[in-house]
Amino acid sequence: VEKVSDKACSHFMPTKVLFGVGELSRIGEEAQGLGNRAFVVTGRSALKRLGVTRRVTDYLESSHIQVEVFSQIMTNPTTDVVNEGARRARASKCNLIVGMGGGSAIDAAKGIAVVVKHGGKIEDYLGVNRIPGPTLPVVAVPTTSGTGSEVTIFAVFTRGDEKASTISHFNCPKVSILDPLLLISQPPRLTACTGMDALAHAIEAYTSRKANVFSDVFAREAVRLVGQHLRRSVWVGDDLEARKGMALASNLAGVGINSAGVTAGHALGMSIGGFCDTDHGTAVGILLPRVMERTVYADLTRFAEISTLLGDDVRGMPVRSAALRSIQAVKDLMQDIGFPQTLSQIGVKEDLIVQIVDDGMNRGAFNNTLKIFSREEARQMFQDAM
Ligand SMILES: [Fe+2]
Repeated sequence: VEKVSDKACSHFMPTKVLFGVGELSRIGEEAQGLGNRAFVVTGRSALKRLGVTRRVTDYLESSHIQVEVFSQIMTNPTTDVVNEGARRARASKCNLIVGMGGGSAIDAAKGIAVVVKHGGKIEDYLGVNRIPGPTLPVVAVPTTSGTGSEVTIFAVFTRGDEKASTISHFNCPKVSILDPLLLISQPPRLTACTGMDALAHAIEAYTSRKANVFSDVFAREAVRLVGQHLRRSVWVGDDLEARKGMALASNLAGVGINSAGVTAGHALGMSIGGFCDTDHGTAVGILLPRVMERTVYADLTRFAEISTLLGDDVRGMPVRSAALRSIQAVKDLMQDIGFPQTLSQIGVKEDLIVQIVDDGMNRGAFNNTLKIFSREEARQMFQDAM
């Protein structure tokens, strides 16, 4: 009989999640109890072009909710755009924020909800547990399967050369609507990089120092779902089964990182995003197998389990070989979905390495990694990914 861990931990998930094909149509009834003036935060064009913004507006209006659309969100949203959004939301007396799009739009929605409720600027709330109380209610509608932002305590913003976040359970949306129909128009490249973000969350949560009996349940299932569904999501974009699997995977991985946190790959990946305006999923995806290579010996059993979860048959193998297989399984997956293998390919320059690594090592997430890295080792690991 396997012993249950003695490690004390807690699990708190305040978000109501609706999951299913066509569930977007319930946004009006879900929002009704939360407010009567909605501020819809979304990206610049894709969703408008596809008519999704229009449908959300119609659903909300038919539930007697007035709608103001703010479609200024870019990849890597800045603190400025969040403050501007908050100013507009307050001017139009909105009492409900709808975040619709990828992680950028949902994070921006969370930030706007904080500033409208508590005043000041989003910069006043950066850091851990700096949000003083409940924010305006947020309804999240993810249209990518990556960040899990629709259920997380995190929101990430860009300020100059810096990626900074607010971390608080007040960031958790009130309601999230996971409708796989919204995912089928995602192009393959976006599917690949957001999917690798979800995998990085799942594996980092599973191999974090803060991993616990609750986060393990979510992280394990998320790894398994990515192993089963990411390739097909990328290759056959209109396969609803695959899209459902990835929607669930990214959501569960998000719950996992709420209590287990992320590790070195995300710490360094976020620093890359600050210095280079690269896409988050691509940066953390490239770093993922590099961090695994340098942490695998810290817990062979866990890494061997990851191999199994990713679909490798490692029965009968010595645990060391089984554990090392997990790294190859991630690399194989990346190759199969046409994922870039090096940071140079995505524009990271050699002369930034020292700064990026120093910045990444200062993030709390870096120290969640099982192995304790010296500065030299961290630079070497980063160099390996170049
Ligand atoms: Fe991430």
